[in-house]
Amino acid sequence: MEQTLVIVKPDGLSKKIAGKIITAMEKENFKMMACRMIFLSPEKAELFYGEHRGKEFYSPLIKFMCSNPSLIMVWQGEEIISGLRKMAGNTNPDLAEEGTIRKLYASDNRHNVIHCSDSSESAHREINFFFSEEEIYSWERKEYKK
Ligand code: CMP
Repeated sequence: MEQTLVIVKPDGLSKKIAGKIITAMEKENFKMMACRMIFLSPEKAELFYGEHRGKEFYSPLIKFMCSNPSLIMVWQGEEIISGLRKMAGNTNPDLAEEGTIRKLYASDNRHNVIHCSDSSESAHREINFFFSEEEIYSWERKEYKK
């Protein structure tokens, strides 16, 4: 089982598609393990996106990520890191495959509605960046009528 960090970015909340993204992940049988709304500060966003410092899109990215709240989540599932990146599609929605989250909902390669970790090392770092161990629940699905 793998875990990954998922962010529904400020544009995702503005577009009212947080529920659609969650539903798509549940349909894949992935499981939500932690969830919180956060209004990123520039300091925190700069730390999170530190690897992109110096790139031409870095400053506008920080500004965008701090423009409104985001939903940060930990999700778990078999091969979820590659599976979710496939579901999300290319960073640039023009290049994303049909049916992917970014093809369906993203405006451009900055306003691309979702972030998901790109490797197990990133997932580990990114999950620990936002969540403490106690905030990540280990739980099992139960059967209910209806
Ligand atoms: P994300 O998966 O959150 O990781 C880094 C982010 O930088 C990426 O999604 C985009 O929002 C943004 N990004 C990456 N490449 C570009 C680019 N060429 N132009 C603008 N934004 C970019």
